[in-house]
Amino acid sequence: MNDFKAVEYKNGKLVFLDQTKLPLAEVYIETDDYERIAQAIERLEVRGAPQIGVVAAYGIALAFKNNIDNPIEHFSKVYNRLFNTRPTAVNLFWALNRMKTFFEKITDQKELFYLLINEAQSIHNDDVEKCDNIASNGLKIFDKPKSVLTHCNTGQLATGGGGTAFYVIKKAYQKKLIKFVYADETRPLLQGSRLTAFELDKASIPFKIITDSTAAVLMSQGKIDIVITGADRIASNGDTANKIGTYNLAVLCNYHNIPFYVAAPTSTIDTSLNSGDQIQIEERNKDEIIKINGQLVTKENYDVFSPAFDVTPHKLIHGIITEVALHNPPYNFR
Ligand code: MRU
Repeated sequence: MNDFKAVEYKNGKLVFLDQTKLPLAEVYIETDDYERIAQAIERLEVRGAPQIGVVAAYGIALAFKNNIDNPIEHFSKVYNRLFNTRPTAVNLFWALNRMKTFFEKITDQKELFYLLINEAQSIHNDDVEKCDNIASNGLKIFDKPKSVLTHCNTGQLATGGGGTAFYVIKKAYQKKLIKFVYADETRPLLQGSRLTAFELDKASIPFKIITDSTAAVLMSQGKIDIVITGADRIASNGDTANKIGTYNLAVLCNYHNIPFYVAAPTSTIDTSLNSGDQIQIEERNKDEIIKINGQLVTKENYDVFSPAFDVTPHKLIHGIITEVALHNPPYNFR
């Protein structure tokens, strides 16, 4: 099978690929339990900013599959559970708040489930459309074929549609504008070597996986023409939170005079924030660093600092590609 569905609403259940098992096994999880969906977000079985938002919206809707005595109280319980799964990607809060606004307008309680599922599907369909438009706008950064480096995973496994940065690369490849792709392995959870490699392979795009620390060497050898990454939250001034290691890449690009681009839907822009220092950065469990495949690789008592994301200052970002446009600096998203 050359294509796959990362997230799908089917026969009253949410069906999603368990990303913790990729690429060695393609295992699907099927559930209509919002608690299981919250756990899937926490464990990164589903992940990527836009995809977290889509899945959380389905989580809210599925919580109303059976009759509920006190829908207002139940909504707030489910909303709070999903709200507290991961703190950085603003798409989660964007989607939950869209579901909340919609819920508050519903007058016919008998239709609750049907209406909420429709709204979740509409959030999902909107994301598919946004990804398509990000990919089209992203083509504007290619004046000739280029070798590209990307970080983390930003494809179908990170969104409800074709992806953000990954989809730009995929569409550009189809137009013969990509010479080669280097995928950062993306320590510690290996979204690059496991997930981006899986998607590049499915799309038959030529690639190599590199360790995160190899980027500088490749840049100094003139092997990278452009870097494109996704985003988890973008402040009004363009400062961008994304997977840890993104900031390193932007600094390296600046030194080597290589354009550094970010691609994300407008649902990733948090206009309530002036700048990136206001973005809450998730810290992950130390086991993700000291163990590989459950096996200790260092001493258990050694301390760890493991932020899941970093913030790239807007000054290092050449352009931000959204579904609306290719935005050039200076950025002002208010
Ligand atoms: O911790 P993750 O895997 O959810 O982090 C994902 C990223 O940092 C992605 O680059 C970002 O969400 C953009 S996805 C289109």
